[in-house]
Amino acid sequence: SAAEKGGYDYFMLKEIAEQPKAVADTLLGRIDAEGQLTLDELRIDDAELREVDKIVMVACGTAYHAGMIAKYAIEHWTRIPCETELASEFRYRDPILDGRTLVVAISQSGETMDTLMALRHAREQGAKVLAICNTNGSTIPRESDAVLYTHAGPEVAVASTKAFLTQLVACYLVALYLGQVRGTKWGDEIGEVVGELARIGEQVDEVLATMEPVRELARGLADKGTVLFLGRHVGYPVALEGALKLKELAYMHAEGFAAGELKHGPIALIEDGLPVVVVVPSPRGRSVLHDKIVSNIQEIRARGAMTIVIAEEGDEAVVPYADHLVRVPRTPTLLQPMVAAVPLQVFACELATARGNEVDQPRNLAKSVTVE
Ligand code: G6P
Repeated sequence: SAAEKGGYDYFMLKEIAEQPKAVADTLLGRIDAEGQLTLDELRIDDAELREVDKIVMVACGTAYHAGMIAKYAIEHWTRIPCETELASEFRYRDPILDGRTLVVAISQSGETMDTLMALRHAREQGAKVLAICNTNGSTIPRESDAVLYTHAGPEVAVASTKAFLTQLVACYLVALYLGQVRGTKWGDEIGEVVGELARIGEQVDEVLATMEPVRELARGLADKGTVLFLGRHVGYPVALEGALKLKELAYMHAEGFAAGELKHGPIALIEDGLPVVVVVPSPRGRSVLHDKIVSNIQEIRARGAMTIVIAEEGDEAVVPYADHLVRVPRTPTLLQPMVAAVPLQVFACELATARGNEVDQPRNLAKSVTVE
């Protein structure tokens, strides 16, 4: 009913709008006044966490993209090798696991069959399993050694939005906590990140307030057949997520690529008027990546692409090459996915509406895939 949707036309719109609160709720009580992480609910003791020598993230769909992004953060902050794998691939390839492996199963519903089977397999091999889950008492957390709940509240729309942002928050909390208990050298960067994490909700609000041009752009693209997405570093999984959203909601051919792979194939797809969304990393910090992606934008634009550029405020280098420019607030590189994903959600939702699709219940899809 309209009341359940809080006055929005679709649950998805409501859930997109709820993201600042979902992020804040997921952080609540987990960072103390000194900026130290307190994850008492973790139930895996610090001694065991200090022994972990490998982390494997397993998930499906959007949750898998959260895991892909988390890999960058975990390896950077903890120096523990981390892999992220699709749950459906993981369990059938005889993965190498033992008592020092921490497997992190990410699932909004807590009922996804492939993720559940992956965690069962991991536990049989003696690995410790931590669930990151949004649904209290669901199967995945019940069968795990520990759980860190995301506090996104119920997510109804099939396409995941607020759960995704909170999965990222939860993964980052785990990464920072591991850094803390293992005594990883906490430079200024870590302290800064904890502070910035607390501001992400506000920044998502800022993004939401500036989405009208994105909606207008989406409406104008309703007749296109294909949209490509490019990114580097954590922007790469964001590109994959943008493409997944478009498939799910707009039923369009959409693909995400690592921008560095352009020359190895994808650039052959570029033709006149093809919309290409490019997620641009901050020019501050990892400026090498920024310079490289600016040349990628030039390369595709020279071949006729319509460039839709998502870049942080103050990034002037992209301006000459952006047919459409979407600004996101300044964040540390590793946190950028939380703001950069939002315009992509809005874009896909609006395209679906323009194409007359059912936003909350896309054809052929289920909210929770409880079969293999
Ligand atoms: C389905 C949903 C996706 C979700 C995926 C994993 O495909 O449509 O939105 O990302 O399942 O679901 P989970 O509940 O495990 O996060």
